[in-house]
Amino acid sequence: MSSKQKTVFVCQSCGFKSLKWLGRCPDCGEFSSLAEEVVAAAANAKSAAVMFPTDTTAVQISKISCQKEFRLNTGIGELNRVLGGGIVAGAATLIGGDPGIGKSTLLLQMSASLPDKKEPILYISGEESALQIKIRSERLGIDRKNIFVLTETTLENIINEIKRITPMIFIIDSIQTIFTLDLGSTAGTVSQIRECASRLIYIAKATGIPVIFIGHITKGGEIAGPKILEHMVDTVLYFEGDKGHPYRILRAVKNRFGSTNEIGVFEMCERGLLDVKNPSELFLSQRPINTPGSVVVSSLEGTRPLLIELQALVTKSNYGMPRRTTIGVDHGRVALLVAVLEKKLGMHLMDQDVFLNAAGGVKVDEPAVDLGIVACIASSFLNKPVAPNMIILGEVGLTGEVRGIRSVEERISEAAKMGFEKCIIPKQSKLRAKFKKMITVIPVQSINEMFELLFA
Ligand code: TYD
Ligand code: MG
Repeated sequence: MSSKQKTVFVCQSCGFKSLKWLGRCPDCGEFSSLAEEVVAAAANAKSAAVMFPTDTTAVQISKISCQKEFRLNTGIGELNRVLGGGIVAGAATLIGGDPGIGKSTLLLQMSASLPDKKEPILYISGEESALQIKIRSERLGIDRKNIFVLTETTLENIINEIKRITPMIFIIDSIQTIFTLDLGSTAGTVSQIRECASRLIYIAKATGIPVIFIGHITKGGEIAGPKILEHMVDTVLYFEGDKGHPYRILRAVKNRFGSTNEIGVFEMCERGLLDVKNPSELFLSQRPINTPGSVVVSSLEGTRPLLIELQALVTKSNYGMPRRTTIGVDHGRVALLVAVLEKKLGMHLMDQDVFLNAAGGVKVDEPAVDLGIVACIASSFLNKPVAPNMIILGEVGLTGEVRGIRSVEERISEAAKMGFEKCIIPKQSKLRAKFKKMITVIPVQSINEMFELLFA
């Protein structure tokens, strides 16, 4: 479409400009921070603006209509929940996650479950061939005439198709594969991602057609490319899970149109992703009963109290340095709690390896599981099981005191619903009479007190 534009290399940390690429910014000294940018950025915005003109006159605030914003129901309950009730017109959403976690599957399923069966949906794939997408859709049992697939990576062609089809929503799978002819750099570079995303978001805002971007993540777990991408979009979701397990958690880390507290839980099965209505049941389904080192805790995910099994294995160390290995639980937190166990309970863990795992591939990062971690390490060390009908709630301080946690009542009613009969809670946490009737509540003040209760 347009001929190659004049570009310049700009340091992403200090803004230094250079006509050619440099490995290190001579101004601020940062390494590989120079990224190519189009000089005439305004001219580009203009070209998109010509294709999708907007009203640019200022409006009196009193004249702006304030009817409740329209939300497009995605047809997938858990996805709606995370988005805050559906997709807002013109919204730009970014979904990040490890390769193979199910991002493409989720969005293809969403395309098929949108209640409107007539308006076109444009699925743009830069990663897979049309045939691969067709095979996936057959596996998912999708047969919808209004889903249009475009396998294309050139931004200019993509924009032309959006203009031609005028879909109700368009999906970019993935933003790292798209490139504009205006930049000399290859797809996936900082400058390409930023330029392409900004033009597509402009189109979404100008037309009111929502866009969903799929984004790859780096080894560190962040969306690859410029951090600015996350600032540009309205909503950022992360799709997480362990590939060895069927459970997937969709989490909002940024949401201009809703809370960032909600999570959606899915199960990946033969025919795609299924909503999980009762996650606690799923996470506890394979729990061993009356086995040392297994304890059930409650982690509040958004407004949902999930019941999760923690497992610990404490064994004699063969190395000078004992190992502390954790999966799904913060490593530093466990090291700290091990130290508290040693100091306050006199438990000799210096020559023991400690392994801790949150079963089912979930991640827990709430202080309310501290007391459960302590109980489960002690249980494995002493080789004494914790009663299977017991759940343990509480934060642990450095002096071994048990501190209050939020939303105890919600957690207790979830535990009672799942058939638990006893619950250890912090003494500070107050409960209304109704909740005390649901379950036998045992308040404790210190880890010593809990220890007496469980193992004496
Ligand atoms: P995919 O959506 O391609 O992942 P992403 O786009 O995040 O890279 O999902 C790929 C995985 O999902 C693959 O390992 C196979 C599995 N899968 C199922 O188990 N069931 C299904 O119905 C589908 C379509 C995929
Ligand atoms: Mg994919």
